[in-house]
Amino acid sequence: MDRTVVITGASRGIGAAIARELARRGDKLVLAARTRDALEDVASASSNTRVHIVTADVTQRGDVERIRDEAIRAFGYVDVWINNAGRGIVRPVLALTDEDVDEMVATNVKSALYGMQAIVPHFMERGRGHIVNMSSFLARVPVATPRSAYSAAKAALNSLTANLRVDLRRTHPGINVSLVMPGLVATEFARYARGSTGPVPPGAIGSPMKPQTAEEVAVIVADVIDDPAAEVYTNPASHAVAARYLADVALFESEAESRS
Ligand SMILES: NC(=O)c1ccc[n+]([C@@H]2O[C@H](COP(=O)([O-])OP(=O)(O)OC[C@H]3O[C@@H](n4cnc5c(N)ncnc54)[C@H](OP(=O)(O)O)[C@@H]3O)[C@@H](O)[C@H]2O)c1
Repeated sequence: MDRTVVITGASRGIGAAIARELARRGDKLVLAARTRDALEDVASASSNTRVHIVTADVTQRGDVERIRDEAIRAFGYVDVWINNAGRGIVRPVLALTDEDVDEMVATNVKSALYGMQAIVPHFMERGRGHIVNMSSFLARVPVATPRSAYSAAKAALNSLTANLRVDLRRTHPGINVSLVMPGLVATEFARYARGSTGPVPPGAIGSPMKPQTAEEVAVIVADVIDDPAAEVYTNPASHAVAARYLADVALFESEAESRS
């Protein structure tokens, strides 16, 4: 298909798994994160395709614009931009500091906003393109209370994603905007979360959902690129859980409390 795909947060976890899956499907890749060595390892596991690496901090607008510029310089165009970089937190609402909230917004909201604003003009010029924003099931069902400001930031990302999709559908119907909401995924996400005191086993925050592997999530993301959808839950249990939550929030919360 000769597509060029940009992936932020591609140095480990879900982003690295998406890179391996898309390389297997023959896409050219631009991989961005802050850790160059780890990006090089991911690139060498994708040796069947062309890969360009960009060391960048996605909380910096200039760095995100540089990812776009380097991608276009390396491959001539971008077809798909995946805003995957993100970070969690372990801190309940009443303990949140200004710095906690600022970092959750910078890493999970502004990073993706910068990505959308950097690449959509290029998509508009070409009349096509695809934004994929990596959110979380916690944006829809925010019951893991230690993830408080993370869930809030991802909920903001959900809204920005939907708003952009509606705006573009009117003027540029060839541009797709997708939101992906994984449940628990077995990566080092919990270990790297702000305020984490060490590895947290997946499932330790009271979710009834079975954790997925990064590879399972990567296949679903690759399928969304092949066949664009507005919103996707990656965990098969998520639809039913979200429906129960939206039908009766108080009942859902009391049942979740008795389970934990
Ligand atoms: N794991 C889960 O259970 C889960 C569930 C739902 C949603 N998600 C979402 O899925 C995405 C990937 O998570 P993951 O589980 O793969 O987490 P992870 O293993 O901690 O990986 C996070 C990735 O984001 C990059 N990153 C973080 N801050 C960055 C920054 N300021 N600039 C550039 N890159 C940055 C990291 O690279 P560097 O450190 O090298 O920069 C790393 O490649 C995130 O958006 C996360 O919120 C995860």
